[in-house]
Amino acid sequence: MKKRDLVCITSLSTQEILSLFESTAKLKKSKIKRTNHLKNKSVGLLFQKPSNRTRVSFEVAVWQLSGNCIYLSPEEIDLGKRESTADVAKTLSRYLDCLVARTFSHQDVIDLAEMSTIPIINGLSDLTHPCQALTDIFSIKEYFGRLKGLTVTYVGDGNNVCHSLLLGCAKVGLDMKIATPPGYKPSPEVVQMARDFARKSGAKILLTESPQEAVARANVIYSDVWVSMGQETETKKRLDDFKGFQINSDLVKLADKEYIFMHCLPAHRGLEVTADVIDSDHSIIFDQAENRLHVQKAILIFLLGRSK
Ligand code: CP
Ligand code: NVA
Repeated sequence: MKKRDLVCITSLSTQEILSLFESTAKLKKSKIKRTNHLKNKSVGLLFQKPSNRTRVSFEVAVWQLSGNCIYLSPEEIDLGKRESTADVAKTLSRYLDCLVARTFSHQDVIDLAEMSTIPIINGLSDLTHPCQALTDIFSIKEYFGRLKGLTVTYVGDGNNVCHSLLLGCAKVGLDMKIATPPGYKPSPEVVQMARDFARKSGAKILLTESPQEAVARANVIYSDVWVSMGQETETKKRLDDFKGFQINSDLVKLADKEYIFMHCLPAHRGLEVTADVIDSDHSIIFDQAENRLHVQKAILIFLLGRSK
């Protein structure tokens, strides 16, 4: 059977996303801590950037499924510098059964997927973060018990996390409002793709430069850092440009009374969100972080069941 990859959330059909959520819920509920789903399988983690959640949740997921996990740091595999991406992909395909890649350039994930014979999972690139968005939408469904009729509001940078969340929401029929400062809108190609999915699912999409307009009556308020990994030289400009886009107690007053606050983490209290919001009873950030583990177990079972 042809191998499958998770390069972007669009690598999955809506039906596959919903069925991953069903598997995730079962895995999360199960009292059996360790299963044999990945027995005799090895999974590599090739990371060009730091990570807490993605690395640890994948390592624990592979352990809980009885597989073997190998972490490859930026110093060990200097993708495209020490050797070509093609040689890395072809070599690792001879040892591993699956590779999770966290890269700067999204093209590197695409190249790895094209040149490998094993499933490639995008563990965050400059363009997308599909494991995060799948987890976010699973967490929304888990909390509210439904997806339809809810509005997800994202305030901040139209970045990798925003892109995957937008595409995922459009696929499953969640309405999404995105507030960004001028110059920080999500990529027009991603927005166009999301609008195409939304036409089928019935989801509504609003792009605005007004956080107040976006947050009004929202069920979910989502934020991410203003300076993503790899953008450190732009820090000063970004901190200026994002003034007014902080999620704080004044802004959340406009949301639905039962709103939840979400953040992919790591977070910077006092910048994109104030401590009183992120640490309030409305915040589900640690359920969200935990769910990375359960969702990624379901992803690994889905992809590895089809390979080799
Ligand atoms: N949310 C997320 O991907 O966190 P890490 O960068 O710590 O993996
Ligand atoms: N947008 C952030 C997400 C971190 C999980 C980054 O790319 O650094």
